[in-house]
Amino acid sequence: MGKALDGVRILDFTHVQSGPTCTQLLAWLGADVIKVERAGEGDITRGQLRDIPNVDSLYFTMLNHNKRSITIDAKNPKGKEVLEKLVKHCDVLVENFAPGALDRMGLTWEHIQSLNPSMIVASVKGFGPGPYEDCKVYENVAQCAGGSASTTGFDDGPPLVTGAQIGDSGTGLHLALGIVAALYQRKTTGRGQKVLAAMQDGVLNLCRVKLRDQQRLDRTHVMEEYPQYPNSQFGDAVPRAGNASGGGQPGWILKCKGWETDPNAYIYFITLLHLMEIFGEIEKWTMTKTKFEAMDILNKRDIPCGPILSMKEIAEEPSLRKTGTVVEVDHPKRGKYISVGNPIKMSDSPSEVKRSPLLGEHTDEVLAELGYGKEAIAALRAEKAI
Ligand code: COA
Repeated sequence: MGKALDGVRILDFTHVQSGPTCTQLLAWLGADVIKVERAGEGDITRGQLRDIPNVDSLYFTMLNHNKRSITIDAKNPKGKEVLEKLVKHCDVLVENFAPGALDRMGLTWEHIQSLNPSMIVASVKGFGPGPYEDCKVYENVAQCAGGSASTTGFDDGPPLVTGAQIGDSGTGLHLALGIVAALYQRKTTGRGQKVLAAMQDGVLNLCRVKLRDQQRLDRTHVMEEYPQYPNSQFGDAVPRAGNASGGGQPGWILKCKGWETDPNAYIYFITLLHLMEIFGEIEKWTMTKTKFEAMDILNKRDIPCGPILSMKEIAEEPSLRKTGTVVEVDHPKRGKYISVGNPIKMSDSPSEVKRSPLLGEHTDEVLAELGYGKEAIAALRAEKAI
């Protein structure tokens, strides 16, 4: 069966997490993703947080499925020639270098346009235009600057970052949508365009409901569904709301049977009026049930609730394996490992998860597609351009 993005070629100049998340999604949707890396080291995550010596880390393998890898020294003149051929050959260039790095390589927007006017150039940056546009940014910086940290945690504690990688993977997801939309628009205009997803903007988009609450607070000075109401004063900014829901359905996390020893023996419970008194009563009951027993009983009565699942439980959950949301992948150097598959399910564009490439595994293959013969490839290698 064909795939939604069959025929789309991506020049993948991404590294670390945000950019690779984006291009991995595009690869799952059928695009041919050619990941350009520096010879020797490659994407820095290949060597970060390794669990097996000298083997690509899970950090790398879980973000780079279904891609091909080619090593090019973009600062070597011959390497740059190869890169320019790739620009002509591909539909989209995706990058998440520090601000200005692509320009310093000579790949300015104008130059790319002169080589291939239909090329889409998609970037993740930490901040959009403004006072911080030159800053380098990592996940937690974006969570803080995008409004997530100030609204996460308990009221009497410091701001907290979340485990979900809303700055990196969240922005990668936004960028992927921008790329797909630009590909669609190109069908009518014939032109490429720049697509920018700034991590601060992506996080703020995911914190949209908190900006809603800021304006409610400005107007009414209280928010009845927040745990602060009616027991304490609201300040002038949206407070941290503990485990209260971000929507109109107030909820809280309650202890279940086994909570004394199991850090995840909890359930998320949604109710309405007299919140804390009700939660207190319900918790007396949930403490007599495991979170799964409580989930079963409550859902049968149409009461929304959610067990707090640990990563171990998610890894072992059969229904997630069945849908391909959690998959087992075989890697020639590390053996079998599990990963998150494509969370987007399409009836006419199925995704199989293929292992991540070894560094430079497809260099010769891609160069041959660009028209380089064996001798030319050997010469490039001798010059360390590839
Ligand atoms: N050949 C030659 N040079 C290469 C190369 C290649 N194939 N690939 C990368 N480089 C060079 C770049 O040109 C750059 O050189 P320069 O700074 O001398 O111009 C250099 O490698 C480093 O790139 P940079 O992106 O600046 O890496 P960094 O380690 O300094 O910063 C980040 C890392 C993530 C902080 C930064 O890339 C960033 O802010 N990115 C945007 C936001 C983002 O995506 N953050 C999330 C990360 S998960």
